[in-house]
Amino acid sequence: MTQPPNPVLEAVLTRRSAPRLTEPAPGRHDLERLIQAAATAPDHGRLRPWRLVAVTGNERARLGDVLAEAAASPEQARRAATKPLRAPLLLSIVHCPVPDHPKVPEWEQLAATTGVVTTLSLLLHGYGWASIWRTGSAVQAPQVRKYLGVADREQLLGWLYVGTRCPFGTFAERPPCEITAKITWPDSAGG
Ligand SMILES: Cc1cc2nc3c(=O)[nH]c(=O)nc-3n(C[C@H](O)[C@H](O)[C@H](O)COP(=O)(O)O)c2cc1C
Repeated sequence: MTQPPNPVLEAVLTRRSAPRLTEPAPGRHDLERLIQAAATAPDHGRLRPWRLVAVTGNERARLGDVLAEAAASPEQARRAATKPLRAPLLLSIVHCPVPDHPKVPEWEQLAATTGVVTTLSLLLHGYGWASIWRTGSAVQAPQVRKYLGVADREQLLGWLYVGTRCPFGTFAERPPCEITAKITWPDSAGG
């Protein structure tokens, strides 16, 4: 890498998803500031087609009960019940596309929503917090959607688990992406 050090580059390169998270999580005021910043992510038409449902404290166990209720087997239910306890704060990611928008198709709106989540995870990392985006079949379960107040026209995209990285947690090395195979240049460019 020939670029000089830069805090944005540093944050992008060092962010890692954290499968194990512990207390503390950012407080409401700090988190809202970061979400405000993340809301600047590219968004065609500034439709802001997203919202977040925070789940903290005892609500996490309640959500676990609902996840267990939606599970396909008793074994899965047992595991599902404790899933929300894996972090002190869960941000349920709700995509709320504007239907039949004259200029902005729904796929563009989904891109905008995911941009906010990615930007938020980078900002959290930049401020010393950690996170992981998790999904699963529960996002379609009627019980789960109802519990979180997800409307019929909305899509639950999973949860951003947020908190403090467990000091002893390890993570698998991230293999570099071979980007030369990912970019096509005109024949005359580069060298
Ligand atoms: C839309 C989306 C859904 C994801 N769902 C899960 C999930 O359910 N469980 C999981 O372990 N990782 C999930 N991941 C992947 C992690 O969030 C993480 O990005 C991946 O493990 C790579 O780790 P890294 O972010 O440290 O490179 C998901 C990622 C995205 C973008």
